[in-house]
Amino acid sequence: PALSIGIDIGGTKVAGGVVDNEGAVLHRARRDTPHRSKKPGVVENTIVEVVDELLEVVGPGAVVAVGIGAAGFVAADRATVVFAPHLSWRHEPLRDALQRRVPVPIFVDNDANAAAWAEWRFGAARGETHVMMVTLGTGIGGALLMNGQVVRGRFGIAGEFGHMQVVPGGQRCECGNRGCWEQYASGNALVREARSLMTANSPIASDLLDRVGGDPANLTGPLITEAAQAGDQTAVELLAEIGSWLGVGIANLAAAFDPGLFVIGGGVSAAGDLLLGPARETFRKHLTGRGYRPEAGIVAAQLGNEAGLIGAADLARVGAGADPGVG
Ligand code: BGC
Ligand code: NA
Ligand code: ZN
Repeated sequence: PALSIGIDIGGTKVAGGVVDNEGAVLHRARRDTPHRSKKPGVVENTIVEVVDELLEVVGPGAVVAVGIGAAGFVAADRATVVFAPHLSWRHEPLRDALQRRVPVPIFVDNDANAAAWAEWRFGAARGETHVMMVTLGTGIGGALLMNGQVVRGRFGIAGEFGHMQVVPGGQRCECGNRGCWEQYASGNALVREARSLMTANSPIASDLLDRVGGDPANLTGPLITEAAQAGDQTAVELLAEIGSWLGVGIANLAAAFDPGLFVIGGGVSAAGDLLLGPARETFRKHLTGRGYRPEAGIVAAQLGNEAGLIGAADLARVGAGADPGVG
């Protein structure tokens, strides 16, 4: 089978994998994402390290392409990252910079576009004609897939749902605006809200505080999910709040695009129904024409947090012509 490598670059981690033509991840490698304050080239060094590590495992001859799913606005040329709220890239010629150092053809796409592609090819959205993907991680990623095609917009950057305004004058977003959806329904929003409870010294945060040795700085999204699954009521509520905002946002997306299915991915989606239950509830409350119109399904990503790297790898494999039957 034709193997390809997928790299998912998020705000906190660079996750890579060798993927076969059925979407199975055969080998994995990961690094922390260098902080946004570092020069763009530092992230590129990290990507090359991950690619090299994986190429060494399978041998460069076994891999037909490398796909990059980047957490940012990827231009229509599929080579340039125009802007990235959580990374230092501005008009960054990412593909060319990497191609000079990697001996296999490179393809660049937005991380959420890649995740949507993976879910449509191998996961929760198989057989669906109108799919919307929402990934909850550092930010909110978005993608619209129609009839097996990623809808990219005139300039390549359609699907930036995370930066729709949901609260006028609300929380400042890393994109520079205020009140963006990702300030209310992402992994970062979850951690921010939990920390604000801790630093307010609220007794309802004491279980969470114990889990991080008394230091709010140690708190992470997965720890909150773990606490919720263990029955901590505050963690359950925090996830429900994120879920509620998720439902409001996707009701807006349904009004605009009328998909058949919403697939929810990214780190926070590991919380399953603790997140999706409340999301479905507010979705129904806010959906325009509710009660009279068909309702889109809302499901968790089947490929979980690996959707991005699997999709990046598969898009690259298809882009390299290794699978002319698809795409
Ligand atoms: C970025 C998107 C990205 C998403 C998820 C957003 O803040 O604007 O490009 O897909 O985060 O990583
Ligand atoms: Na996108
Ligand atoms: Zn924003």
